Amino acid sequence: IAAALAAGPLSGQHILVTSGPTHEPIDPVRYIANRSSGAQGSAIARALVALGARVTFVTGPAQVPPPDGVQVVRVQTARQMQEAVTQALPADAAVFAAAVADWRVAREVTSKIKKDAAGTLPVLEFTENPDILAEVAQMGAGRPALVVGFAAETDDVVAHARAKLARKGCDWIVANDVRPETGIMGGDENAVTVLSAEGADSWPRMSKDAVARKLAARIAQALST
Ligand code: CTP
Ligand code: CA
Repeated sequence: IAAALAAGPLSGQHILVTSGPTHEPIDPVRYIANRSSGAQGSAIARALVALGARVTFVTGPAQVPPPDGVQVVRVQTARQMQEAVTQALPADAAVFAAAVADWRVAREVTSKIKKDAAGTLPVLEFTENPDILAEVAQMGAGRPALVVGFAAETDDVVAHARAKLARKGCDWIVANDVRPETGIMGGDENAVTVLSAEGADSWPRMSKDAVARKLAARIAQALST
């Protein structure tokens, strides 16, 4: 009976999920972050576990706790997330729900930046972070059979997401509109369009848990064919 309960459409499958924001240090006491709560990534991991998957959950400093039943790997920066993702592979599928900082401060300093008497303002110089999703989507041997990215957009959501799908080489992009007036970033609901080579599937606005369950079911379907 235990085996029957544990079985699910994703039993025996290892799925990697990234989630949450990353924090990029400026100095020992300051960092650059974004408004991702980690709610959608956490819900996806929970839904995958519910279908029987073994889930490695690589998370930045999120507001929402990781779900039960996953292997949690906590990171702060994009580069740490990249390293943790590399360590977690191989996987049958990978879902990149994290809001990875695009840039980090080029020269991290080990002492707190101080105001000076002359009132000189600090100038931060940035460098680009690795694109973790693109790297995994474009790896040859060992690539997960299904690579799913997200696209958080404020304008021309589907057009930008379609371009992202092609540019990154992933299998699906889950696009959402994160303009502040939608209340999606930091909220309990999401309205997504799932893009793939087969076309665009727009789902009505629903709870992030419901989006997660629908996405997990679609992943189970894709891995079974
Ligand atoms: N992503 C990633 N590593 C990065 C940046 C993004 O893995 N350094 C992943 C995200 O987890 C998401 C997808 O790429 O699944 C798209 O992220 P997004 O920020 O929408 O795309 P970018 O390519 O960074 O483009 P931009 O922010 O300019 O829209
Ligand atoms: Ca980005």
